Amino acid sequence: MSQTTTSDNRSFPLPRRCPFAPPPEYDRLRAEEPVSKVRLPTGGTAWLVTRYEDVRTVLSSPVFSADGTRPGFPTLLPGQAQVLRRPPFIRMDPPQHTFYRRMLIQEFTLKRVKTMRPGIQATVDRLLDGMLAQSPPVDLVGEFALPVSSLVICQLLGVPYDDHEFFQSRSKVGVSGASTAEQFATALGELRGYMDGLITRKQDEPGDDLLSKLVTEHLEPAGELRRDELLMMCLMLLNAGHETTANMIALGTVALLEHPGQLAALRENPGLLPGGVEELLRYLSIADLVTTRIAAEDARLGGIRIHAGDGVIALLAAADWDPAVFPEPGRLDLHRGDRRHVAFGYGVHQCLGQNLARAELEIAFATLFARIPTLRVAVPVGELPYKHGNLAYGLHELPVTW
Ligand code: HEM
Repeated sequence: MSQTTTSDNRSFPLPRRCPFAPPPEYDRLRAEEPVSKVRLPTGGTAWLVTRYEDVRTVLSSPVFSADGTRPGFPTLLPGQAQVLRRPPFIRMDPPQHTFYRRMLIQEFTLKRVKTMRPGIQATVDRLLDGMLAQSPPVDLVGEFALPVSSLVICQLLGVPYDDHEFFQSRSKVGVSGASTAEQFATALGELRGYMDGLITRKQDEPGDDLLSKLVTEHLEPAGELRRDELLMMCLMLLNAGHETTANMIALGTVALLEHPGQLAALRENPGLLPGGVEELLRYLSIADLVTTRIAAEDARLGGIRIHAGDGVIALLAAADWDPAVFPEPGRLDLHRGDRRHVAFGYGVHQCLGQNLARAELEIAFATLFARIPTLRVAVPVGELPYKHGNLAYGLHELPVTW
């Protein structure tokens, strides 16, 4: 994502400096200009919101719409406007949003995710067997983080994992700040074609998976879903289901290795893990740039007048490092015991897959550090290829040794 500069020299998006911390400029904005205007890399402007309470207001108030078809909806990547012409439900408002989300909610409940845990554990074990059979250094992203999250969502949806190279490479184009609008359009067209073919296969031969269920229970003519609606819904699930979790596994591993005292505490007391995962989610807030909105009517926020049609970006990492809510936010403290973070968003769009993501992260970290106690990063952490400018922050590669 190329950076642009406003007349007062403010550029956006801002790069992270320390590999984990949000851009340091967020602290100044939060303290001095909690709602401030920036020019977007795709043209136009938007308000950046940096205080925890203001971020929650934006994400929970109907005044700030998620409807991506509204003219002027803020975009950060060149190809995003194309998706927003016919957006998936993450970029819709109630009641349309509610209509789609309701169809899926049962698949992502805590109870349902509990039944998936043994399968996730088996996947993690198998991938670590494969990794340990190789001689280090090994890329933890390619051999572990990405396949864990990809295999889990593929199994849930009923997407053949054998096709992973095809859809992962196209999904990558979709979230990368370096993609052009043309590359984005091609990748999206290919993904749509792929998903369309898969829907036909499920119509002919339904299986025991979510896509088959949606096809048999909800697709026209018997059901209420048009084919293109189902298609976008499934592409969103596939994409949201592997990109973010993979980034959290890789970056979370580095964060723990860089905080040996915290890692030792986790090893001593595995009961610390669920709270520890919450703290890693807060500390890394990888989906910082995802929560874009548009003002549906005139409003006041942080003392600033916002006009109907203005773009708004509720910065999740800025909220999760707000010292008014999280004292000493730059300290990774697995004992913090505070689950109020907004790493999964807030309000009606709060992450549908959060229970699944938590289960994957818990199992991945617990098993990785138990089975490879001598794990370490094979290159200086400052030299790792970070995904600056991507919609979800993370690592392109993570060479590890043991
Ligand atoms: C650690 C991993 C993850 C993070 C940090 C994350 C983060 C987020 C955030 C911040 C949102 C809100 C976006 C907004 O308000 O505009 C969101 C929504 C969503 N996420 Fe996740 N996510 C993760 C994993 C997953 C997984 C595993 C799935 C599984 C399919 C998933 C599916 C979704 C869906 C479908 C939505 C849209 C919900 C709606 O609009 O009602 N996510 N996620």
